[in-house]
Amino acid sequence: MVTTRLDGALPELPRLADQPPAVYRVRVERWLEEIDQRLITDGLHVFGAAPDRQRARTLIEAALDVPRHGAAGFSAACRALGLGDDELRRLRNALIDRSVMGREDPARVWSSIAAVAPPAQLADLVTEGRGILAGMGRCGEELDAVVRVLEGRYIRPAFGADPIRAGAGALPSGRNIHGMDPWRLPSETAMERGRRMAEILLEKHRADRGDWPRTVGQTLWAMDTIKSEGEGLAAVLALVGAEPERDGQNKIFRFRLLPLETLGRPRIDVLLDISSVFRDTFQMSLDLLDDLFRRAAEADEPAELNYVRANTLALRAQGRSHEESTARIFTQARGLYGTGVDELIEEGQWEQSDELATMYTTRNAHSYGGRRNGAAAPEVLRGMLGTVDHVFQAIDSVEYGLTDMTHYYGHSGAMQLAAQKARGQGVSLSYAETFTGEVSVRDSVHLLRVEARAKILNPKWFESMLAHGHSGAAEIGNRFTHLLGWGAISNMEQWVFDDAAKTYVFDESVRKRLEAANPEAARNVVSRLMEANGRGLWKADEATLAKLQGIYSDIEDRLEGVGTVAA
Ligand code: BEZ
Ligand code: MG
Repeated sequence: MVTTRLDGALPELPRLADQPPAVYRVRVERWLEEIDQRLITDGLHVFGAAPDRQRARTLIEAALDVPRHGAAGFSAACRALGLGDDELRRLRNALIDRSVMGREDPARVWSSIAAVAPPAQLADLVTEGRGILAGMGRCGEELDAVVRVLEGRYIRPAFGADPIRAGAGALPSGRNIHGMDPWRLPSETAMERGRRMAEILLEKHRADRGDWPRTVGQTLWAMDTIKSEGEGLAAVLALVGAEPERDGQNKIFRFRLLPLETLGRPRIDVLLDISSVFRDTFQMSLDLLDDLFRRAAEADEPAELNYVRANTLALRAQGRSHEESTARIFTQARGLYGTGVDELIEEGQWEQSDELATMYTTRNAHSYGGRRNGAAAPEVLRGMLGTVDHVFQAIDSVEYGLTDMTHYYGHSGAMQLAAQKARGQGVSLSYAETFTGEVSVRDSVHLLRVEARAKILNPKWFESMLAHGHSGAAEIGNRFTHLLGWGAISNMEQWVFDDAAKTYVFDESVRKRLEAANPEAARNVVSRLMEANGRGLWKADEATLAKLQGIYSDIEDRLEGVGTVAA
């Protein structure tokens, strides 16, 4: 039976000893469904080239699920009409093919196949879809824009936005993108989603740990803030129990503390790990946040219901001044960029994970907002890290996930590690995802499994990368640095390394293509696996290691020109 055959096939989902087959089967089905439904990037964007029909279709499908102009997205609208998932997909396919890509009247298409009346927003959804399609068709303007720049001429500006979230408004590409008006951050929509993130995070923490987190350590990035109109920032406000206060022109001039009675729970303290790009871009938001933390610390409220105040008093008791004790926003000194942790990993310049944590707490100990202006406050950072129960970051788009870049483990991952070292105990790490409007919060272990299955080990993902030759192969090579990075910072499960080695090294056809496209990338794949083993992050057997060694020497020889790299 299926469950017997499945035993051992999914190391990330072992069947529990007393689990009846039928129950296990449901868990497996749910897991496979999650991976199957996961939106992933499909190869790289080719500058100036419009996506083909299938890719355009996938993007339109996802974009139409985002709520816009106060109306629910397509899937939510269909479910509200009582339609099941199969029916929903059938209708969506027909509408996209016939009305968005074709020009048939949407009401006619709907009535020809659906038994219920259409949702009110049907025509708007189709208009949005057509706008996205038309916008994507103008990718050629990217090249025109580059030529104009080189001639020193003007390029039309536009808000930087993600096409799934912002839909037709993010297109066409090839414009001079800029951030949004910082006086309006977070937007009302972002505020709603940020509140939802905070609620789910707190529910999850209470379910796992039985109590409110005293302090949430949170990473904020600039690009994500621009694309999501400040969802991460909104989550900070929600945790602390605050909301934007707007003037007559709808500009935010303060973050107002909600009364504890309205909040109905303690104010959670937030220790912010901001990117230096955020520091350079959103000074206004930093000032408003710093002012909020100061007021929260000084509020006439019992410390057991106001953790900002409780942490401030504890820091005072450790000899820090009031000014120091209210600092909550940290990053690098002015002029410096990057937490330094991912660089240590990239260059292999570390032995113990303590060194990674120390890099984090020394390089990122500069506080900002209000009058702080980058003053070094390492004792405050370490003191605050010692109160962090949960580290959190909001991921705004499918474009980059945990294993797609060094920065997730360089920021929120490193913060978790530093908090664990400061406390001498485990600290949770969760990510919120809001790609299409639905908010989900998952822990890093779960999301890393999803990334492994849906991307790294998924032939759809790596074949589309290999099809791009040198650059696609480089992307694959980099992922092995990222797997190692996660292993170094927190944990990378053994099966991921095992299967990644099988997929990219021991499958001769994949390895040969990788080598041919980009021998340095192939070398990185093999050397990072050997490094993971050497550092005790992956336990490979002797035979596997010997094979890796042999392949590594081969690639090295070729790179040094001893042999010839296959054409
Ligand atoms: C950002 O602020 O958008 C950012 C900075 C560094 C790495 C990734 C994102
Ligand atoms: Mg992002």
